[in-house]
Amino acid sequence: MAASSKGLEGVVASQTSLSFIDGQAGILGYRGYNIHDLAPNASFLESVFLLWNGRLPTRSELASFEEELALQRGLEAGTLEGLQRIPQDAVPMAALRTGVSLEGMFDRDGEDNSAEANLRKAKRLVARTPTIIAATQRIRQGLEPLDPDPSLSIAADFVRMANGEPGTDEAAAALDRTLLLYLDHGFNASTFACRVIAATLGDMHSAVTGGVGALKGSLHGGANAKAMETILEVGEVENVGPWLEAAFAQKRKIMGFGHRVYRTEDPRATHLREMSQQLTEQAGEGKLFEISRELEKQVMAQKGINPNVDFYCATVYYALGVPIDLYTPLFAMGRMGGWTAHIMEQHADNRLIRPRAEYVGEKDLTWVSIDDR
Ligand SMILES: CC(C)(COP(=O)(O)OP(=O)(O)OC[C@H]1O[C@@H](n2cnc3c(N)ncnc32)[C@H](O)[C@@H]1OP(=O)(O)O)[C@@H](O)C(=O)NCCC(=O)NCCS
Repeated sequence: MAASSKGLEGVVASQTSLSFIDGQAGILGYRGYNIHDLAPNASFLESVFLLWNGRLPTRSELASFEEELALQRGLEAGTLEGLQRIPQDAVPMAALRTGVSLEGMFDRDGEDNSAEANLRKAKRLVARTPTIIAATQRIRQGLEPLDPDPSLSIAADFVRMANGEPGTDEAAAALDRTLLLYLDHGFNASTFACRVIAATLGDMHSAVTGGVGALKGSLHGGANAKAMETILEVGEVENVGPWLEAAFAQKRKIMGFGHRVYRTEDPRATHLREMSQQLTEQAGEGKLFEISRELEKQVMAQKGINPNVDFYCATVYYALGVPIDLYTPLFAMGRMGGWTAHIMEQHADNRLIRPRAEYVGEKDLTWVSIDDR
């Protein structure tokens, strides 16, 4: 048997036609469209349509897709009741994990893995993930969750439901773009977790519940919140050097830096850096961008490591006034479109995912009865 690869590094586990990554050249494409073309031109839901259907929607197709999803934003009554009973200090990613699982409990297509049922569930999941996150945000403040307003875009309605009042068009557009950038990324850990569950013929809600669990970790989606904590802890541009010196001495990972696949700039970071500069400046938080730039410069100079998608997204969300522990749920809001696409792709041409383990333990030991140990 071939030797194992720790962390499955470099292993090509299966095929996908959803997103393409060239880690050497720094290229990311959804269904053949470069992220550099999609980010400034497409909306999040336009990209979800592209991912699910393999082609860009026409204007009228996009309008009806948006409308169909907007009308499905309302949560099941049982989900809302369940969220009300979650401890007020619950981590929002844990609440989201429970929320999507509860939605599965009440979904009329819950156990149906047909392509038609999967698409219906995917639409509900993408439409309702923002509602779950916003409801959690309200409930933990002791406030009543707000009903969705289908006349608003998915991003604008999230801002309204989470904050209790509408935000600016600019804030909704910026949030929408981060969702697009987070939408899909090959066999990342959470997507792979979804596919492993789907490949057992597990249902879509079970699979995305696993995906939320995998994304929660700080080496994956949790990194955007940790990156913000780092930037705030550093506090001043002149602290970057000593802060990094101490971190490297303690062999601490710098959150928001490094990537398993990219050996050059993460193309998503290119867009988020630009957004971060603009939005932090507008919010009177330009210093946070300067600290970020200095961290980037010095980590690159000392370790040759680039920032990843999560690093500049942190200050984008900070400038938009998002509470830090909602950064990873927002990542999930975007990635839900990708997870559901991968589950549909897996179910459409399934084979159980079941790798072997390289056994490195002892063998052929002599049994010792319990009285003689
Ligand atoms: C993303 C990540 C898990 C990829 O890890 P990986 O492919 O297993 O890479 P490794 O951890 O083996 O890193 C290779 C080398 O770069 C270093 N490195 C990688 N990321 C680093 C980081 N963020 N800070 C400091 N050093 C880092 C490692 O210490 C290692 O150095 P060594 O060879 O001297 O031991 C890793 O870069 C990381 O932990 N980043 C921080 C968390 C993060 O931002 N996650 C979001 C990813 S989108």
